[in-house]
Amino acid sequence: MPRFATMENATQFELRLANRMSRLGTETAFEVLNKARALEREGKDIVHLEIGEPDFDTPANVVEAAVGALHKGWTHYGPSAGLPELRQVIADYVSRTRGVPVNTDEVVVVPGGKPIIFFSVLALADVGDEVIYPNPGFPIYESMINYVGARAVPIQLREERDFGLDVKELASLINDRTRLIILNSPQNPTGGVLPESDIHDIADAIGDRNIMVLSDEIYSRLIFEGEHFSIMSIPGFKERTILLDGFSKTYAMTGWRMGYGVMRADLAAHMTRLMTNSNSCTASFTQIAGVEALRGDQSSVDRMRDEFKRRRDAFVAGLNKIKGFSCRMPKGAFYAFPNVTATGWPSKKLANVLLEEAGVACLSGTAFGDFGEGYLRFSVANSLENLNKALDRIGEWIGKNL
Ligand SMILES: Cc1ncc(COP(=O)(O)O)c(C=O)c1O
Repeated sequence: MPRFATMENATQFELRLANRMSRLGTETAFEVLNKARALEREGKDIVHLEIGEPDFDTPANVVEAAVGALHKGWTHYGPSAGLPELRQVIADYVSRTRGVPVNTDEVVVVPGGKPIIFFSVLALADVGDEVIYPNPGFPIYESMINYVGARAVPIQLREERDFGLDVKELASLINDRTRLIILNSPQNPTGGVLPESDIHDIADAIGDRNIMVLSDEIYSRLIFEGEHFSIMSIPGFKERTILLDGFSKTYAMTGWRMGYGVMRADLAAHMTRLMTNSNSCTASFTQIAGVEALRGDQSSVDRMRDEFKRRRDAFVAGLNKIKGFSCRMPKGAFYAFPNVTATGWPSKKLANVLLEEAGVACLSGTAFGDFGEGYLRFSVANSLENLNKALDRIGEWIGKNL
């Protein structure tokens, strides 16, 4: 008798997943990327505008710092909340940029921005609690809220408000069961930026209720018009805000996996326990590079932002020339989110045919929630040459099929 099940009889054992797994969502960008790669293996040429990551290399000074750290032996476990040096640099940076005093014990370093979403929802929302989140929005919010058994309450982002939210509508969604409100500005997928006056109105709508705000500011350095403003800066909100920021987008470090949360020290201690239970710590040599990223020369950040702006301007102008497409000028991040309802095609179908027939990979607005119907998301984190190629291909396909 073989000791272990063979491949043939392994399937006799039904996979018995925990119920909660049926409530866990995903991020469609990775699925579309896989599908696009499969088409490429068949010999098709695809322009990749589906994935939200800078196409630039990580700045050389940051890479050097990581290599140096590896040689110096930063290869061991570190504290779960992050290396004290990096927590201090982050505390200084957030104090400076958000205008509120921040201590190191209010900073938790994690592998990417995503774990802060995961941990915030896990730590704060019980079964039956309500969490308000932007829709269309980063899909991980809704996925995590559902996963923990809380009630996901969407606040619609409205094109006519430049993809901002209607604060009166938000106020009407807040009730005694609301535990957490998620804000994201600059926003994925719309590129919308919440004006400072709206953030003040949101703070007024929350008033003195004991509700936490998860403020996802991962694109805070990618603003093309105006200044970034955080709800954390409003008096009375520091202790009710979890600020999410990180290195992925600002320093083109998506694959390094490093982000952070800034929050009241008592909550930070619980987040740290979640880190101990899940990851132990963020990679130590990566954190040494993080110190250099925040402290060192920032000119590469400005260069990347200027380049994204150039591409945004060209791509949005091009989209607006295509029949059935109309696109607002995004004020931040690196996405264009055109309204395609005038094509008469449902978003998902249109995204599919553009991939399969036009060779342009983009995402359906519905990958970001139900209120994304009628839109497509394109990442402009690609060369101008490829963006122009994509515009030509879409224009040609629409010309033939509309
Ligand atoms: C709004 C938003 N928040 C968080 C993240 C996660 O970033 P990270 O790759 O650092 O986990 C992303 C990544 O696409 C994002 O768009």
